Amino acid sequence: MPVSVFVGASVDGFIARTNGDFDFLPEGGGEPHGYDEFMASVDALVIGRHTFEKVLTFDAWPYGDKRVVVLSSRPVDLSAVVGGAVEQMAGSPAEIVSQLAASGAHHLYVDGGITIQRFLRAGLIQRLIITRVPAFHSSAPCPATCSCATS
Ligand SMILES: NC(=O)c1ccc[n+]([C@@H]2O[C@H](COP(=O)([O-])OP(=O)(O)OC[C@H]3O[C@@H](n4cnc5c(N)ncnc54)[C@H](OP(=O)(O)O)[C@@H]3O)[C@@H](O)[C@H]2O)c1
Repeated sequence: MPVSVFVGASVDGFIARTNGDFDFLPEGGGEPHGYDEFMASVDALVIGRHTFEKVLTFDAWPYGDKRVVVLSSRPVDLSAVVGGAVEQMAGSPAEIVSQLAASGAHHLYVDGGITIQRFLRAGLIQRLIITRVPAFHSSAPCPATCSCATS
């Protein structure tokens, strides 16, 4: 079963600020960059607890009725999700992939920094799609010719 990652990153390689915000990414996803087509090919998302908690602050649940698996080693309150198909799992990345394959999943989308790192270390990611946006996360000076946003 293919397991993929699709993240937006700043030019200097960050997917979020230390407080969890990712306001340096364009609102609404920016110009078309394959996300919709990628999402259409995925039948289950596997997201870390921190990403889940961030998503809960959005105005609306962004995953529609797509199956979403929240990973955490502790009980997570899923009741705030309205209209979504959300469940919780824990275990090694290999155990999670194996459980999801056994339950009929065909293409997993793994999301969240720590979570992605764990799946990468386990050698379970076949496709890594990183979209760089023209913004810097760090406060390091921008190159003189660069007109991108800094933060
Ligand atoms: N730029 C982008 O495209 C993008 C995409 C996604 C997320 N983000 C940002 O990234 C941030 C979240 O990333 P993060 O690195 O902080 O954390 P994360 O990967 O979302 O969540 C990490 C947590 O997930 C749980 N977890 C992960 N693997 C597990 C496993 N195999 N079994 C049990 N639990 C497991 C653990 O929770 P417990 O401690 O509860 O056990 C762990 O502390 C958010 O701020 C979000 O905004 C950005």
